[in-house]
Amino acid sequence: MFSTKVGIDKMSLYIPEYFVNMVDLANERGIDPDKFTIGIGQSRMAVPPIWQDIVSMGANAANRILNDNDRAEIDQVIFATESSFDYSKSAATFIHQLLGINKYAKSYEIKQACYAGTAGLNIAINYVRLNPDRKVLVIASDVARYGLKTNAEATQGAGAVAMLVSANPRILTIDPDSYSYTDNQFDFWRPEYASEAMVNGKFSNELYYDVFNQVMQQVSLEVLDNLEAVAFHMPYTKMPIKVLNAYEEVVDDKNASIRIKRWRNHIPAAQDLSRQVGNIYTGALYLSLISMLISDESLKAGDRIGLFSYGSGTVGEFLTATVEPEYLNMLNKDWIITHFYRRRELTVAEYEKMFNETVPQIDGVIEIKTKSSEREFYLALVDEHRRYYRFNQDK
Ligand code: HMG
Repeated sequence: MFSTKVGIDKMSLYIPEYFVNMVDLANERGIDPDKFTIGIGQSRMAVPPIWQDIVSMGANAANRILNDNDRAEIDQVIFATESSFDYSKSAATFIHQLLGINKYAKSYEIKQACYAGTAGLNIAINYVRLNPDRKVLVIASDVARYGLKTNAEATQGAGAVAMLVSANPRILTIDPDSYSYTDNQFDFWRPEYASEAMVNGKFSNELYYDVFNQVMQQVSLEVLDNLEAVAFHMPYTKMPIKVLNAYEEVVDDKNASIRIKRWRNHIPAAQDLSRQVGNIYTGALYLSLISMLISDESLKAGDRIGLFSYGSGTVGEFLTATVEPEYLNMLNKDWIITHFYRRRELTVAEYEKMFNETVPQIDGVIEIKTKSSEREFYLALVDEHRRYYRFNQDK
């Protein structure tokens, strides 16, 4: 029915310049470091400075992949986030201007916890199927905040992923069929007056397993058995191991153990980048997808893969896709490694100070000074509650 191949043609990311080491954090909190590094599976947690917010991170991720043709051919800028700072104006409108995208594109923001990135990707794919000579830019950008000294502190993080969706994509072709599930629940939520998420941690894990099982029941065994690997929404890197254990307990078809074993083999590669960052909510699935694509030597062009998206509250969706021949060239592993190596380590005290330094909610003009020497977009000014961004040219 659909003859044109549509999917992710270009993909990039942005991770803040600072991180805290999880062993230091555990020691400071009086917790056995193995709980964070093995039990939860995190080595480092990305910490955003005040001059990097969802817009600047998203702009920095997308800036790397767009050329002038893309800027002219993009019809939609879709911004997925659950760390929005404005209930009216979307983060996409800032990105549209910062990246010089043609004025005839439309721009908007999507919310449904960590699932929103996938909702945006779906809209983009369906639009391009109908308009194969056009493109859609999807950005997933978030700051995961639970609060200092909370149980969930070790699963914070920050970062953005940008995806350019087009016909004849060079990274991943995504199939038209997908499998979804919604269940109105309170595993994780953030009322508009709260700057940190509220979470029922254990319940959120259980719900994640349940939603995965519910979604899997809709997928034919023929489709599942053809999947070489599955990329998961990764709130912390132990999650894909735990969800596959839970899945193995409920599934009983004859090939189940073979396919689960095959999927397990690809998990270490998918964990690599997330282990160094933490949860980036809407972008977490796509960070782990990039990680798997760039570091999994047993994955190859033509392989069929699944993508499991989960967003608390709760919505799940499973997409299936084919890896395209040019995927490694398009992802630029060397640049990604350099981007991760450039980061600077904070002490726990420095991290706490950065965590508490938030944009003042006051009338008037607030200049925000970047301490970074990177050529990047940053939040430079808040004027009567309006955010303005600059590009740090040559500090
Ligand atoms: P906790 O309750 O403090 O930790 O917080 P725990 O007691 O469950 O321990 C964690 C693991 O460490 C366990 O492993 C322990 O056994 C192990 P498991 O049995 O589960 O495999 N452990 C140790 N291992 C080695 N050496 C030790 C040691 N001690 C313990 N000494 C929790 C954990 C994840 C609940 C918490 O961090 C939290 O609430 N995080 C936020 C919620 C979350 O990430 N939920 C995930 C599913 S929901 C989701 O993914 C959506 C989300 O991204 C939001 C959205 O959609 O917008 C969060």
